[in-house]
Amino acid sequence: MHDIAIFRSLHRARFEAEPTLYVAPGRVNLIGEHTDYAEGFVMPAAIDFATLAGISPRADGKIALFSENYGEVRYFDAAELPAKAGKHWTDYPLGVISILAGEGHRVPGFSLSLWGDVPLGSGLSSSAAVEVATALAVTGLIGVNYPGPVLARLCQRAENEFVGANCGIMDQFISANGAKDHALLLDCRDLSFKLAPIPHNVALVIANTMVKHAITGGEYTSRRAEVEAACAVIASHRPGVKFLRDATVEDLEKWGPEMTPNSLKRARHVITENTRTVAAAEALINHNLAELGRLMAEAHWSYSQDFEASCEEADAMVALAQNLPGLIGARLTGGGFGGCTINLVEQDQAAAFVEGLGGLYAGQTGIVPQIHICHASGGAHRIE
Ligand code: GLA
Repeated sequence: MHDIAIFRSLHRARFEAEPTLYVAPGRVNLIGEHTDYAEGFVMPAAIDFATLAGISPRADGKIALFSENYGEVRYFDAAELPAKAGKHWTDYPLGVISILAGEGHRVPGFSLSLWGDVPLGSGLSSSAAVEVATALAVTGLIGVNYPGPVLARLCQRAENEFVGANCGIMDQFISANGAKDHALLLDCRDLSFKLAPIPHNVALVIANTMVKHAITGGEYTSRRAEVEAACAVIASHRPGVKFLRDATVEDLEKWGPEMTPNSLKRARHVITENTRTVAAAEALINHNLAELGRLMAEAHWSYSQDFEASCEEADAMVALAQNLPGLIGARLTGGGFGGCTINLVEQDQAAAFVEGLGGLYAGQTGIVPQIHICHASGGAHRIE
């Protein structure tokens, strides 16, 4: 957990100015994977791992970006921002600043400190937390107040257009709009959403396989391309189908043979995942935890077998969780190819579950996992 007082005093000491502070959370996705860019449904929750941003104005026209995590400061000219990414941590804040400038805002000089505890490359959206924290800080500084969904879209554009990662809207949306003690069912078509309370006796246990994933890597992009290729086949017969959100399993039965075997499998995952996600939200709202757990299990195996976005370690972790006390449902969360599993666990069994899973996973894989009991937290905001 962050110490806000320390963060504030570090910024003050470094930049000799009083910062205004903001926080933006990471997220865990309960269900709905690789459905966001197909205009489908996702159900994430914001978590209590987050990025802090501290901002103060400067008179010299420079933008100073400081990362507590990297212990590094970089200076840029506010009037001459870099036009493209440099494969560096500053790409995320710079992307947001350049999108805001592109929206017609005059960006003045400022000092921005960032400090995050969202584990990097673990599928918990550390980059979205940085983007949303930066966006709130900079818009706060220039006196602009975007609604959460608009802010999220600007941050997604920073990632798509500047950083060069082809992500959907889920991560930035939940970071900007999360609600304490709730998961959020998001319709990625029109960004309408419904909050689903997480019962007090249910713990969010996030277990890191310690296998790194990166969404700037090729696998995320190639999966997305396979999904879009499947959609194009269906659309050639049914022009009303713009995204896989509009397609059905019957479409796959009819036109699947015209797809590559991989595209067919990816599409089957996305189409069935959309149905599961809507059903899971209903199960959560109706306190039908057994059904929620069943849908999460189905989602994991669809993600692993059809989408082929899991890995040996994540499959092992999900399988090992099944026989532990208190498990409601477990699956790999996030962009895939490593990262964390989300385990919904009965609160009074959570400690025993964490210990059991840690031991079993280390025994089977030789890797010591990091396992956290998290809480659904509120979305990004200013810290008063
Ligand atoms: C990453 C992306 C999201 C989403 C997930 C997969 O987290 O940033 O937009 O596509 O992967 O569900």
